[in-house]
Amino acid sequence: MLKDPSQKYRPFPPVNLPDRQWPGRVITAAPRWCSVDLRDGNQALAVPMNVGQKLELFNTLVKVGFKEIEVGFPSASNTEFTFNRRLIEEQRAPEDVWLQVLVQAREDLIERTVESLVGAKRVIIHLYNSTSPAQRRVVFGMSRPEIVRVAVRGAQLIKERLERLRGTEIMLQYSPESFSATEVEFARDISEAVMDVWQPTPQRKMILNLPDTVEVAMPNVYADQIEWICRHIKNRDSLIVSLHTHNDRGTGVAATELGLLAGAERVEGTLFGNGERTGNLDVVAVGLNLYMHGIDPQLDFSNLNAVRAVYERCTGMTVPPRQPYAGELVFTAFSGSHQDAIKKGLAEWEDKQIELQSSTSTGTAKSELQHWDVPYLTIDPRDIGREYREVIRVNSQSGKGGVAYLLESEYGIELPKDFQREFGPIANDEVDRLGREVSGAELKAMFWREYIERHAPWQLLGFETESRNGGVKCKARLRHHGQPVEFTGEGNGPLAALVNGFSRTCDLRFEITHYSEHALSAGETASAIAYIQIKQADGKTRWGAGVDTNIELASVHAVLSALNRS
Ligand code: KIV
Ligand code: ZN
Repeated sequence: MLKDPSQKYRPFPPVNLPDRQWPGRVITAAPRWCSVDLRDGNQALAVPMNVGQKLELFNTLVKVGFKEIEVGFPSASNTEFTFNRRLIEEQRAPEDVWLQVLVQAREDLIERTVESLVGAKRVIIHLYNSTSPAQRRVVFGMSRPEIVRVAVRGAQLIKERLERLRGTEIMLQYSPESFSATEVEFARDISEAVMDVWQPTPQRKMILNLPDTVEVAMPNVYADQIEWICRHIKNRDSLIVSLHTHNDRGTGVAATELGLLAGAERVEGTLFGNGERTGNLDVVAVGLNLYMHGIDPQLDFSNLNAVRAVYERCTGMTVPPRQPYAGELVFTAFSGSHQDAIKKGLAEWEDKQIELQSSTSTGTAKSELQHWDVPYLTIDPRDIGREYREVIRVNSQSGKGGVAYLLESEYGIELPKDFQREFGPIANDEVDRLGREVSGAELKAMFWREYIERHAPWQLLGFETESRNGGVKCKARLRHHGQPVEFTGEGNGPLAALVNGFSRTCDLRFEITHYSEHALSAGETASAIAYIQIKQADGKTRWGAGVDTNIELASVHAVLSALNRS
């Protein structure tokens, strides 16, 4: 890299719009959406989709709710042309879906494009030519007036052929390609020249698509450009202003959102942002960003995993693990403090739902109960068909909260809080040693090894109790370092009798400072688990756990587990 990048690169000039309005606005409704997966997305694939794959993805786009779908560039290849014909002849597009096609301002291409549309119900013919200084100079070697003439000629050629599509509802779209790198005045002038040919009216609007073909500036600059056009173009009410952002600086989503604030009403993009270079706008992200603010996006992502599966199968692309909303890891917390906060947030959410059903609260109180506010989770994963099970995993960065969550959610093991504080670091050391994420099953195995399967030095062979003078007398048969030991003890319960026996016969003094138990899930052969904390003569405390079908024996095992860990 250069020590002084200003020798080679320069800042992007700001737009002169001192009274810009967009920063003070909010988005309150979904835009019109247009999917460009089958055109812009497709042209960026190493192996473009075949007709079968395009049909499958088209059906999914329709199911998601897109009403405008750019299905291809029919003059570009036979595959593209055939795909168009199949959509039309097999009547695959629902009545309310517009098929959009892209074409350059060339007569032969326009001719073939119009031919591909005969018999369609509703079409959008999308004309484009590139307008930026670099494109004018390097690619076309044309002056501004010459570039305008190309656009006007293309617009006329399309207009002259519309007769051939009698019976088809037609909308016209123009894109000054590379708009965001074009002088705003020139972008306005060329767009107005096209408008002069097509003569849109408020009743028969045309779409003016203003592409961020290559992101060359910060998203606020794109918003300024959009607002500038909206305020300076003639007959604004005869236009549907449309956004088409790419993601070269990683701010395609931001540029679209700010562009909507700036007055645009339509958005073009692709599922998961597939497209040239760094991709097109990710429509899933913008749609679900609206959703998380309580706005119906008018796109249905209730089963996002299924949409993703079709997308991956058809395009051969994969959705990165950190992709907003759709990525594998989006609803996964690795850090212990995040896990703890999520666990508490989800518990509070469940409580609020119960309260909401039973209470008669209104106004602010109701709003507090019904609105999602779980730390680290921007939306409820279940709303888009994802699961809580994905929320918490355990690796060496996890705290006791994550460990406890997995044991409880997967195996019904409800460790007391203090017990979690003891087992958490034990599990973490082990996970650290493994150097990878561990599953719930592995955590359970660690817990079993540490507490349940500790049979030395003390091992239980038998334990019986009988009532005696309002108390309990126990008889314990044990092995200690392999040697048989037998004793009796008395107390006001079986555990007190056991503690008494140890103290009388083995000179082993300790007290029980915590005891709790619960049934284990059916999978654990209807057994119970007991948790015991003992405090020994030296003042140290230790936890132990025992499992048995007999709850009394489970607690005796738990005492021996604690002793064996001393
Ligand atoms: O990125 C772009 O400018 C395009 C146009 C053809 C709209 O894809
Ligand atoms: Zn594009």
